Amino acid sequence: MYKRQMMKYELLIEQAKGILDAEPWYVSAFSNLSSLIMATLPDLNWAGFYLLRNGELTVGPFQGKPACIHIAPGKGVCGAAVVRDEVVAVPDVHQFPGHIACDSASESEIVIPIHADGRVAAVLDIDSPVKNRFSPEDQEGLEALVRLIEEKMICSEH
Ligand code: SME
Repeated sequence: MYKRQMMKYELLIEQAKGILDAEPWYVSAFSNLSSLIMATLPDLNWAGFYLLRNGELTVGPFQGKPACIHIAPGKGVCGAAVVRDEVVAVPDVHQFPGHIACDSASESEIVIPIHADGRVAAVLDIDSPVKNRFSPEDQEGLEALVRLIEEKMICSEH
């Protein structure tokens, strides 16, 4: 099981490298990466990015139902990941105080901070309609994906 999971993430990371090498500009890269995550990992209902802009998280490219647009640092699972500057994995969103329910189908969630110049600049947010969806192996694989994003992404407006 562990080996199969790791092979899935090895493949995902190879494909993510291809996406980022072809176009590291964040709008293109985040768009294709959210699609890649949704197409590769089973049992997800939302996968995408929130970017810190004017002091709050603002929704970026994603796959899934329309989501809340602004999230203040400290609010919800995404805001908690920003303030703590650590991965927040929530096995049951109904047990997380302050969870922001964008899609009522969501049962579990994982949020991984993305850094630029040593500071949190964005988050990768993934929701699942299944409780306990995100294992330590998922966390490890998604953290490796985020390290790759941090290495290759270009965040300029031009
Ligand atoms: N559930 C998140 C909000 C974003 S949606 O899941 C897309 C949160 O509590 O921060």
